[in-house]
Amino acid sequence: MTGRAVVTGGTGGIGLETAAGLAAAGYEVTVVGRDPARGERALDRLGPAARFLAADLVSLASVRALAGEVAAGGPVRVLVTNAGAMFDDRRLGPDGVEATFALNHLSPYLLTQLLLPRLREGAPARVVTVTSGSVRLGSRRFDAAEAPGGYHGLHVYGRAKLAHLVHTLDLAQRLRGTGVSVFAADPGGAVTDMTSGTMRSSRVVAPWLRPFWPLVLRAFQRTTGGTAAEAARSSIIAATDPALDGRTGLTLGRDGTPISPPRGATSPKLARAVRLLSEQLAPLEGH
Ligand SMILES: NC(=O)c1ccc[n+]([C@@H]2O[C@H](COP(=O)([O-])OP(=O)(O)OC[C@H]3O[C@@H](n4cnc5c(N)ncnc54)[C@H](OP(=O)(O)O)[C@@H]3O)[C@@H](O)[C@H]2O)c1
Repeated sequence: MTGRAVVTGGTGGIGLETAAGLAAAGYEVTVVGRDPARGERALDRLGPAARFLAADLVSLASVRALAGEVAAGGPVRVLVTNAGAMFDDRRLGPDGVEATFALNHLSPYLLTQLLLPRLREGAPARVVTVTSGSVRLGSRRFDAAEAPGGYHGLHVYGRAKLAHLVHTLDLAQRLRGTGVSVFAADPGGAVTDMTSGTMRSSRVVAPWLRPFWPLVLRAFQRTTGGTAAEAARSSIIAATDPALDGRTGLTLGRDGTPISPPRGATSPKLARAVRLLSEQLAPLEGH
């Protein structure tokens, strides 16, 4: 199966390695990132069939513009929503939504919804979302963009990743029978810009966890010590492995085999809360 593949955050880190795997498998890959110079360097590696599109995925207007550009190119076989980040300090995106939630959940939610017609045209097609072990640290309250209790970067990131995992597994069920399969891929961890630039201070964890900061840091360093190429394996398998043909709604671990999603990720109650919040903050119509 080949055709057009889109990888957000495909100009560096795990996303670039994922894009390289898809290009090697014969896909015409479009990589998305903010920095055109980085985009050019990615294209040098990915070959002549690859394309770069610039978008700042913290901005929903930018997501909408990106979806329009991708949709103009015709059917999509593979969409990997890989772009993600954790921020030390609270910041708002241009839509007034906390940036971690905007980038790690709302943006891939909206992009996927807007590209569904093109994915259906590309069927059999696959959507792959990139999850994280940090989902276990996230609050499960989804009645607003931010949960009460203050800003602690790792927990806020974990909550946004949990929202997106809940959405991913819910979407997989809703798309059953359409030819569009949906998978979550857990990369484990890797040394990348993201992991090198975060976890610099115990302020990123909640006060109850700070006495254990040295242990938290050691566990983080141990799990994020691998290469981006190794971490891309689960996304590449989710996007391309023929053994997954006809399957959907799986979470794949670092080695690309199915794992049980964490507690709560398949809760219908959480799925409904995440869906309502997403529809409210990133409406599909009227823009
Ligand atoms: N690294 C790990 O240990 C680890 C562990 C678990 C999960 N993950 C997940 O894996 C995914 C990739 O992470 P990574 O470690 O490879 O990160 P990374 O190296 O920091 O990601 C870099 C890519 O994302 C793009 N990007 C960042 N912010 C963006 C924005 N606002 N708009 C558009 N593109 C943006 C970057 O391009 P520009 O800078 O040019 O925009 C670049 O292409 C994320 O979803 C992350 O949550 C990573």
